[in-house]
Amino acid sequence: MIKRTAKSSELIRLPRHIAIIMDGNGRWAKRRGFPRIMGHRQGVKAVRSTVRLCRELNIEVLTLYAFSQENWGRPKEEINALMDLLYDYLKSELDEMLGNQISLRAAGQIENLPERVRTCLLDTIEKTSSNTAMVLNLALSYGGRAEIVGAARGLAHQCLSGTLNPEDIDESIFASNLHTAGLPDPDLLIRTSGESRLSNFLLYQTAYSEFYITPAFWPDFDESELLKALFEYQNRERRFGLTNEQHSESCTAKGS
Ligand code: IPE
Ligand code: IPE
Ligand code: MG
Repeated sequence: MIKRTAKSSELIRLPRHIAIIMDGNGRWAKRRGFPRIMGHRQGVKAVRSTVRLCRELNIEVLTLYAFSQENWGRPKEEINALMDLLYDYLKSELDEMLGNQISLRAAGQIENLPERVRTCLLDTIEKTSSNTAMVLNLALSYGGRAEIVGAARGLAHQCLSGTLNPEDIDESIFASNLHTAGLPDPDLLIRTSGESRLSNFLLYQTAYSEFYITPAFWPDFDESELLKALFEYQNRERRFGLTNEQHSESCTAKGS
């Protein structure tokens, strides 16, 4: 069972930021003899239930890896179908985002998205920008290396124009030039479908994230799967390079 405080039954030690590599749609479909797109369609349902539960649990940020830079290499029909699903998702979820105080953000080279999808995305981001309960951050046309290179390029330009001194560049300035600027780093990184790799996802931000890999394919990732991941997270000991003893002392001091 998921841990709660004794007094208020409040959930304790939950991640502030959950990032998910939603993988296995194609295999889910193949197992059933369906075309891959059926897996993606079913995957959207898992997105809805995951967003809803994260919001109910007061998770601050949920980042979903929805389309990687490398995914542009997939067959045209699959890319088109994914873009249509994204467009329909954004249209259908706007009211729910507004009603639940969810603010949409995007990470990735969104200029590469088809015009219709990009416009709808930017419009949804704008309309939800004053919502404060949770950030839903969609990684779209996203590549971790490209993001880091882009940040380095941006900083180099600032140095050349004289607005930044190279000596002043530190981790915090660097992070504020990434697509996740202003967001806490992911505490928990979930990958479905049993694969144990990052696939170019949040390379900088996951330095101290807890990894959780489930064999479940993304379309089968339901509320109980998320609760299982959270339960495991609650039982992890995050030491951030310190010794066990130092870690326990700092937990006692913080009362966690
Ligand atoms: C994840 O499922 C969705 C995207 C990458 C867009 P996949 O489409 O990668 O499914 P598998 O890994 O082939 O089963
Ligand atoms: C990662 O899944 C990208 C997304 C989930 C959007 P992939 O299926 O593209 O990753 P690989 O190819 O198995 O590494
Ligand atoms: Mg995959």
